Amino acid sequence: MKRYELPPLPYSYNALEPYIIEEIMRLHHDKHHQTYVNGANAALEKIEKHLKGEAQIDVRAVMRDFSFNYAGHIMHTIFWPNMAPPGKGGGTPGGVVADKINQAFGSFDKFKQLFTSVSATVEGVGWGVLAYDPLTDELRVLQVEKHNVLMTAGLIPILVLDVWEHAYYLQYKNNRASYIENWWNVVNWDDVEKRLNSAINHGKASLNL
Ligand SMILES: [Fe+2]
Repeated sequence: MKRYELPPLPYSYNALEPYIIEEIMRLHHDKHHQTYVNGANAALEKIEKHLKGEAQIDVRAVMRDFSFNYAGHIMHTIFWPNMAPPGKGGGTPGGVVADKINQAFGSFDKFKQLFTSVSATVEGVGWGVLAYDPLTDELRVLQVEKHNVLMTAGLIPILVLDVWEHAYYLQYKNNRASYIENWWNVVNWDDVEKRLNSAINHGKASLNL
């Protein structure tokens, strides 16, 4: 089975300042994301040994570990390029992202309001997610707990916001609302558009549309 690797950040550690400080980015990327990569690989290792008859495993525990860590790896892999330095990031989307947002939520402001409140009210740790639904050709906002709980099968995330405390505590303390408000200044709408176009094509292909 293939193993996962930590992807490099697409910008320098201090590129998102003043909205997200370098110290957070270093810890978040190099330590936290790496831990999820290692955890997913460790679960694969156990499954592999089990299949070779070299080890007995608690299948349920290993599957839980894999789901949590692999989802953590995927979410962070989307999260980094979803952001761009101030100036390049921020503002409002255009093109197909704007169209799909208007179609699903009525306006960008209404989408922003929903995504903000969904992210602010995650109980404990989790994510705010904007995802594409290939079945209906619509965008949906999801509230995900941990990295994987309440994620809906078949939906393709195109914009994700990490609201675990490790994403903001060193700079914003317990003020998650302020972190979310500032985060909008570094959203990379070009990346979101790229992901949406790819999700639309992928969805059509996978559903034979
Ligand atoms: Fe995180």
